[in-house]
Amino acid sequence: MSALIHHTSSGIPLSFITKSDLANWLEQQSIFLQNWLQSCDFKKQGLALVVDEKSGALAHAYCLVNSLDDFWLAGELATKLPAGCYQIQGLEDTLEQVALGFMLGGYEFSEYKAKGAAKAQLAIADKAMFERLDQQASAINLVRDLVNTPAADMMPQHLSQVMADLAITYKGEFSEWVGDELLEQNYPTIHMVGRASENKPRLLDLKWGDEKAPLITLVGKGVCFDSGGLDLKPSSGMRNMKKDMGGAAHVIGLAQLIMAAKLPVRLRVLVPAVENAVSRNAFRPGDVIKTRKGIMVEIDNTDAEGRLVLCDALTEAQNDEPELLIDFATLTGACRVALGTELPGFFSTSRDVANGIVDSGMDVSDPVWQLPLFEQYTSFLKSDVADMANCASTPFGGAITAALYLKEFVAPTTDWVHFDVMAWNLRSLPGRPAGGEALGVRAVFNYLASRFN
Ligand code: BES
Ligand code: ZN
Ligand code: ZN
Repeated sequence: MSALIHHTSSGIPLSFITKSDLANWLEQQSIFLQNWLQSCDFKKQGLALVVDEKSGALAHAYCLVNSLDDFWLAGELATKLPAGCYQIQGLEDTLEQVALGFMLGGYEFSEYKAKGAAKAQLAIADKAMFERLDQQASAINLVRDLVNTPAADMMPQHLSQVMADLAITYKGEFSEWVGDELLEQNYPTIHMVGRASENKPRLLDLKWGDEKAPLITLVGKGVCFDSGGLDLKPSSGMRNMKKDMGGAAHVIGLAQLIMAAKLPVRLRVLVPAVENAVSRNAFRPGDVIKTRKGIMVEIDNTDAEGRLVLCDALTEAQNDEPELLIDFATLTGACRVALGTELPGFFSTSRDVANGIVDSGMDVSDPVWQLPLFEQYTSFLKSDVADMANCASTPFGGAITAALYLKEFVAPTTDWVHFDVMAWNLRSLPGRPAGGEALGVRAVFNYLASRFN
């Protein structure tokens, strides 16, 4: 349960005043308050604390904002306000989203350092709202924790433990294929990418929900560290590659949210979990692999490993004909070049699903941007020696050609969504501290919750 909200109906009043209302609002306040706000330069500081004259206790907190409609209105307050329990005044209609922004902004990854000072908390009187907030913040913070954890402590076996624990908590079923079992069960690409690591490659599989409910299958890229393989990344490109299991973290967080909220769906989560390491048995540029689907793929670049582990998982995902197949992956630098790091790109074979997800993302301030599966570029994936190559012959449109590679493994009849995400905030914004981040998870959850209810 989150420490940042309290199920209670009382707390130190916290009021938001818009800049445009300030002059009018001030006129209606006591001379005492007017003078105090002037003395503490409220206009410039944007935050003012008022004490009770007699007891000296904190009596009211005021926050100056541009607009009351901003989802991230309270995104900095968990860390800026003194510790204590606050109750937001007014804002009845938007309390839930403002509280979520507050909670997400209070996140801190302190597993490997002394914990920061105690944080402010919000009073939430409505029990159902309290629970929804707790579920949402827990899921997003789980994604962040998984991404932020150093690679040495977040290898395939650790991801396996996380999914096994989730299965226990929500009474699902967990199974996995480890190391050579991947070859026996015909997941050759997952084995190939992960075989050079001491941490054995795995395919993790979580199943949950009512047999009769519509099946949603989630697939997440679980590259626990991406060194680039023999096509080794330069140090600047490798520095943050503990986050290359971000796709797995996204689907695990999304699954937790779906299960906690008890959406009336059946869920399957597939995570190919590997380390893309360098060793004498590492796969090589020029090698050819027969994928689970039977398509022969020539390895042009060992750093394009995400699509390789995903293609066998996507093939497996078609087996039980999901109603909707969604994958998340930190797949390409090119997607970041196209959209920047703060806006995730996604691709879909269904116009309706794509529009639904875009709209849902807008509704919950989790914006996502659709990119095209522009078939004309499929020819860039031609190989001279195999059915196709794992990389395009041109770097242009790299996010599109990566998505088109994956599309070769998805049946034309399947409604498929592919997210290419950064999984990381390079800078802090209100509600979004620097470091591991979930992008598009709330957009997709909101879409699923409105479609399946
Ligand atoms: N994990 C990277 C992609 C990545 C890099 C995502 C930085 C987000 C931020 C992926 O495995 C990779 O290295 N992709 C290559 C593909 C290329 C070799 C075709 C890339 O994007 O450069
Ligand atoms: Zn790579
Ligand atoms: Zn990668």
